Amino acid sequence: MWKYVSVLSILVLVGLAASAQQSQKPADNKPPGEFKIPPEAAAQTNPVKPNPESIAQGKKVYGYDCAMCHGADGDGKGDLAVEMKLKIPDYRDPESLKDRTDGELFYIIQKGKGDMPPEGDRAKPDGLWSLVNYVRSFAKKGASPPEKPPSP
Ligand code: HEC
Repeated sequence: MWKYVSVLSILVLVGLAASAQQSQKPADNKPPGEFKIPPEAAAQTNPVKPNPESIAQGKKVYGYDCAMCHGADGDGKGDLAVEMKLKIPDYRDPESLKDRTDGELFYIIQKGKGDMPPEGDRAKPDGLWSLVNYVRSFAKKGASPPEKPPSP
């Protein structure tokens, strides 16, 4: 009788362990949840004009927090991006951000997306809008590459 009970309890334990493992598995390699931007966030208009002050402010923060991935000139080939093998679009190409509203860019910069970390509270809303303005400015300069040093 006791033998029977212990065999049973082992079976139960094994069963529990197996089901615990099973329930862990999907968490380990679950597909990244679909990224959705709330419509009200996407519809937000940019209250900060892309004037030289805003661009300068955006550029400063970009240099600290973004250039290592997005590249100093927005080409998406910053050192960290290369190291992490991230695929980041070239924002000098006007096509790259044309389907995004300023509100969407603000949301992505604030909250992060996929491998991109959130800027969160490190920047005030005005600072985030200036980052949006600055990121957009890469394409406004046209698709021309950054100035090359004069050839010898
Ligand atoms: C660790 C590298 C990394 C850093 C740092 C980073 N990004 Fe990104 N960023 C990414 C990646 C990767 C994507 C693409 C995310 C995706 O689509 O899954 C992205 C996407 C974006 C997008 C959205 C483009 C789109 O249409 O989806 C914007 C705008 C952007 N980044 C701006 C910034 C700004 C501004 C900063 C600095 C505050 C920044 N990023 C910092 C890696 C980074």
